Amino acid sequence: MSINMDEIKVLIDEQTLQRRIQEMADQIKKDYEGKTITFICILKGSVFFTVDLAKKIDGDVRLEFIRVSSYGGDTCSSGEIKMKLDLKDSIRGKDVIVIEDIIDTGRTLKYLLEYLTLKRPNSLKLCTLLNKKERRVCDVDVDYVGFEIPDEFVVGYGLDYDEKYRNLPYIGYFENV
Ligand code: IMP
Ligand code: MG
Repeated sequence: MSINMDEIKVLIDEQTLQRRIQEMADQIKKDYEGKTITFICILKGSVFFTVDLAKKIDGDVRLEFIRVSSYGGDTCSSGEIKMKLDLKDSIRGKDVIVIEDIIDTGRTLKYLLEYLTLKRPNSLKLCTLLNKKERRVCDVDVDYVGFEIPDEFVVGYGLDYDEKYRNLPYIGYFENV
């Protein structure tokens, strides 16, 4: 499949994205008043969202990074998930929010939440910019959702197709795919 930039349609424009991220930041700030928050950014897709969200919270926000890769499959099994880059510092006793770009089948998050729970944080919540509910295979509780989106393959604002399009400032989808 060869894809051409011209075929990308805007699903969520930059202004709408930033406005919603501000609302999410305000909500998180309220929920964590006076606490130190540790964001765990899931590389690579969540980088743009993590940075913008963190900048919009005027409070103590720390950053950690983790990278996993997942392979398809029809069952809710974490067997296909591989840890590519583990946390470098302890999250024990910390108030952690996992920051994800998109939840699709839910496999990645189910695995990660189980993994992170074993590290004994004080609290563990999940925040995703996009949620493709229709595609869910594994049940995951999401605490903060930016946008519910239909079952389209989306790119931009961190999300890639074969490593391309991450740097688009908006969320787009491919027409005719
Ligand atoms: P999961 O199926 O919920 O485990 O999602 C796994 C990963 O697939 C996400 O973190 C994204 O990196 C990627 N992904 C899922 N849907 C899309 C999409 O529409 N565009 C780009 N990447 C996606
Ligand atoms: Mg991802």
